[in-house]
Amino acid sequence: MRVAVVGATGRIGALTLAALRGGGHDAVAISRGHGVDVLTGQGLDEALTGVDAVIDVLNCTSGEEAGNVRFFTTATERLMAAGQRAGVGHHVVLSIAAVDRVKGNPHYAGKRAQEAAVEAGPVPHTIVPATQFHDFAAMVASWTETDGVARIAPLLVRPIAPEDVADILVRVAAGEPLGRHRDVTGPGPQDLVDMARRTHAVRGHRVELVPTWENGIFDAAMAGNVLLPAADAEVAPTSFEDWLAAQAE
Ligand SMILES: NC(=O)c1ccc[n+]([C@@H]2O[C@H](COP(=O)([O-])OP(=O)(O)OC[C@H]3O[C@@H](n4cnc5c(N)ncnc54)[C@H](OP(=O)(O)O)[C@@H]3O)[C@@H](O)[C@H]2O)c1
Repeated sequence: MRVAVVGATGRIGALTLAALRGGGHDAVAISRGHGVDVLTGQGLDEALTGVDAVIDVLNCTSGEEAGNVRFFTTATERLMAAGQRAGVGHHVVLSIAAVDRVKGNPHYAGKRAQEAAVEAGPVPHTIVPATQFHDFAAMVASWTETDGVARIAPLLVRPIAPEDVADILVRVAAGEPLGRHRDVTGPGPQDLVDMARRTHAVRGHRVELVPTWENGIFDAAMAGNVLLPAADAEVAPTSFEDWLAAQAE
């Protein structure tokens, strides 16, 4: 199967590209780094020639809600239109579990707009909602780290290994369009502050973590069980502990 990964230079994109190639698929890499811009459409028709399925793992760097909504809407509409011209049979998009429950977060607003554009678009699709990744805690701490101190929200999450997400996206792309896949998640719940502390420890990164809702990124709208997946979620195999152990190798 010929499958295009949109956002192929990104963290999940690179893993998805590797999983496709490991599975014997013909993988096409799409990103600005590969000369394709999904916002302007530059290079998109050429890149999608002969492609059977698209896996969209794009990300937006805007911190504003309007910027996120504009980015994900424009990118999805362009991808869907180009996909229809190229005869793409399946558009798979990585979304976030509980995206409808979290209001006031710019990225989540963008992801809701992305889902809406996928659902309104002409190419048969599957939306794959994933919980936070195992590397999410350290990434979030890095956003606020200043002078050896990082402020981080004490979120309750049920994280999933990025490598497992990539494998699931490849499996889904090779199957029939489902509309919406079940939530995908990892084996067990974790506290984000504890995850960050343990990740920093194995990576040898010294930073003082301050658990607080005054972190400028995530507020108490994400507290409690809000971010946890639905009860019927697909559970991927790699635990946070297994992933941490691999980080130390
Ligand atoms: N982190 C989590 O815990 C988590 C959980 C669930 C879902 N997700 C979702 O996972 C997705 C991917 O996240 P990530 O961290 O892997 O992203 P990332 O590392 O920031 O990568 C983003 C990718 O998008 C590409 N891109 C951006 N603008 C582009 C444009 N105009 N045209 C073409 N390519 C463009 C980038 O390549 P260039 O810069 O080279 O163009 C890059 O390859 C996000 O949508 C996020 O919502 C993340």
